Amino acid sequence: MSGSVRNKRKPGMTLLSETRSSSVMTEPAITTENLVKVFGEKIAVDNLNLRVDRGEIFGFLGPNGSGKSTTIKMLCGLLAPTDGHAVVSGIDVCRDPEQIRAKIGYMPQKFSLYEDLTVKENIDFYAQLYGVKGPGARKRKEEVIDQVGIGHYRGFLGKQLSGGWKQRLALCCALVHRPEIIFLDEPTASMDPVARRGLWDLLFTLASSGITLFVTTHYMDEAERCSSVGYIYNSRLIVSGGPDELKQARDVVGQGNVRLEVVCRPLVRTFNLAKALPYVDDVTIFGQALHVISENPQAAELLASDLSLEGVLVLSMREIEPSLEDVFVTLTKASMQEEEIRLSQEALQQGQRRSEFDDEGDDEPDENGGKGRRSL
Ligand SMILES: Nc1ncnc2c1ncn2[C@@H]1O[C@H](COP(=O)(O)OP(=O)(O)OP(=O)(O)O)[C@@H](O)[C@H]1O
Ligand SMILES: [Mg+2]
Repeated sequence: MSGSVRNKRKPGMTLLSETRSSSVMTEPAITTENLVKVFGEKIAVDNLNLRVDRGEIFGFLGPNGSGKSTTIKMLCGLLAPTDGHAVVSGIDVCRDPEQIRAKIGYMPQKFSLYEDLTVKENIDFYAQLYGVKGPGARKRKEEVIDQVGIGHYRGFLGKQLSGGWKQRLALCCALVHRPEIIFLDEPTASMDPVARRGLWDLLFTLASSGITLFVTTHYMDEAERCSSVGYIYNSRLIVSGGPDELKQARDVVGQGNVRLEVVCRPLVRTFNLAKALPYVDDVTIFGQALHVISENPQAAELLASDLSLEGVLVLSMREIEPSLEDVFVTLTKASMQEEEIRLSQEALQQGQRRSEFDDEGDDEPDENGGKGRRSL
């Protein structure tokens, strides 16, 4: 199967975590080797190679439909891989998917607890499900209730909780059997900023106690909090490493690029002006400022002069480091371009093959002795 699936390793793809982690002698929490999931014609996960060390918060990022949830489901033993290998907490997911469940906690993308049970009843249910029984069970349940800070709501029904508290309840249920690894699929998707921060504080506390966290998110600020991140696009891992390493990676952000933050008024008119300048490769609005990217080392001087001629008020202009979002946008665009080139080359080759085939057919006489097209 793997032979028929595209791309073992993209040229230029950076697997920084491989070098970073090679010095870590402990057994990793998660490893995948050419992991593949195919649904019908759709390759949802394409030869994924990952390594997540114990105690890490690993951020798994990528646009909608890129394969994040499918990867998590395979790692949790809920979905059988089509090809490849994955080892989670020392257990082979293909061979012993049932055994994995005792070692991991899983918070799915959609709230999956019982809305008509109370917080306490939900926790009791999950404790039973995971075999948390006997004299220690009550103590353990109280421990996780304290850890997650949900004690005040123990008598509330699931459906009475806000989005943020629902997620805390889900985390509580995922924690009750003392898992070594927790998979959180977009845990903060519907949360306000205060609830998001609160949940992240909790995740840090869990990681500091030695639990490994595998978190998917669309939020770049959350990615920057992770100890390492992987970016998946169109079912393929494009890059992985620590957030700082990613930002600095020369081959990712492009060597020689100048990134400028320009605080100016009026913002939108200047955005449109900057977009049309020949030496500006990319420009985006970032809060009250523009982020301008150029390959021209003189970009700052040229921009200051051009904007002043247009009557723009430039309040400040400074060179900035690429944000993680810049890196991912650059990667996504590069990957889309590569994909377009690949598809057009394939179309060209198919066209050439078809015309060669037609030429061959033209040389052969048909049943009537004339020149005819070969039927397929
Ligand atoms: N059970 C399934 N049957 C068929 N196709 C599926 C199935 N599950 C996922 N897919 C497809 O696989 C691809 C990857 O889906 P997946 O849910 O893993 O993406 P995702 O990165 O989690 O997206 P999102 O950010 O929207 O949650 C998508 O094209 C999706 O339509
Ligand atoms: Mg998903």
